[in-house]
Amino acid sequence: MKKHGIAILGFGVVGGGVADLITNNREEIKSYLGCEVEIKRILDLRDFPSSPFSSLVTHDFTDVINDEDVDTVMEMMGGSHPAYEYTVASLKAGKNVITSNKEVVANFGDEFVRIAKEMGVSYRFEAAVGGGIPVINPLLGCVRQNKIHEVRGILNGTTNYILTKMFTYGDSFENALADAQAKGYAEANPAADVEGTDACRKITILTALATDKLYDVKTVHTEGITGIRKADVLAAEKLSHKIKLLGRCIAEDGVNYVMVCPFLLPSDSPLSTVSGVYNAVEVVGDPLGNVMFYGQGAGAGATASAVVGDLLPIIAYGSENPIVPGFNRVSTPADEAFLRFESKKYIALPKGNEEKVREIFGNVDFIESEECAFITECESEARTNESLEAIGVPCLSKIRFL
Ligand code: HSE
Repeated sequence: MKKHGIAILGFGVVGGGVADLITNNREEIKSYLGCEVEIKRILDLRDFPSSPFSSLVTHDFTDVINDEDVDTVMEMMGGSHPAYEYTVASLKAGKNVITSNKEVVANFGDEFVRIAKEMGVSYRFEAAVGGGIPVINPLLGCVRQNKIHEVRGILNGTTNYILTKMFTYGDSFENALADAQAKGYAEANPAADVEGTDACRKITILTALATDKLYDVKTVHTEGITGIRKADVLAAEKLSHKIKLLGRCIAEDGVNYVMVCPFLLPSDSPLSTVSGVYNAVEVVGDPLGNVMFYGQGAGAGATASAVVGDLLPIIAYGSENPIVPGFNRVSTPADEAFLRFESKKYIALPKGNEEKVREIFGNVDFIESEECAFITECESEARTNESLEAIGVPCLSKIRFL
């Protein structure tokens, strides 16, 4: 039987999960791919003396590049550098590259796809968004014939885990985060999770697939969950809503509104029922309607499943695969349109500002609260900002309704 040699770059949570999957599911992989997958090299800064794979570990990337038996490099190091340099070198050496590294895809995906095409190899990244959920390949393939109106989702397992713990069990933010870190869900620097950067990279990738436009991640309006307070959780509960961190790309009349921020979701929204480390991506298209992809968004096993799954198109079609991402880098900042984005919002100001709110926002609905909490009309970001500025007191919270 034919053999396909792989190298693992980064032997952390995901890299370890891939090695385990390839070992434990040898028979399933053989019958699925029609060939044997053999780990040839593992690149990491560390040694793993007690690991069954210790003899494969190298600290020298040239061992990977010079190994003719390595057909596919699986990059699971995370971060932009040296992941970028290793990806370019691997592709230029005629090796396919599979990655779970959303940062490098969001920042350099267009360049990698171009080099892969020139070299007649493949660049695949199913694991970069949604962990184990097949979402990249469906967006590249079976839903593209639709007019895509929106792609929205819970794209970060760590923050969804934290929000679930805070809402359901009344846990503190710090305890919930420590728990997510212990389970291997969080990024090396968990600020990327809780400040929304990780979800921002993921919605940038999904936007590129849905619209063919690759925006600069730095220009995507991004808010995390660090500003969500106990009072907001209580207000949401009163309204029978849940707070979820969503990445959204809305394509409307030729304008793309791309953003990451916490949203208030009604209890009958499918995304509101997604708890713990689970992610879900909803695609709204014409004539498709709504479809939702759901599954475990982080963790060793789920992410490894998506990484190894990317071998199928490589082995089945090689460079003949007609389905490649159309990443077209655009110079327009994604947040240029954001000020025109319209939504209803929950706003909390210090108690005592009710009169001013009535005067400036008009006849809003107040929420029973120890603060001056109310719900605006559906209006643009610019309009809300102007009104808040006119009131001139610190805004304690502003959370949009879905
Ligand atoms: N830190 C990420 C998350 C890992 O929590 O979703 C998967 O991309």
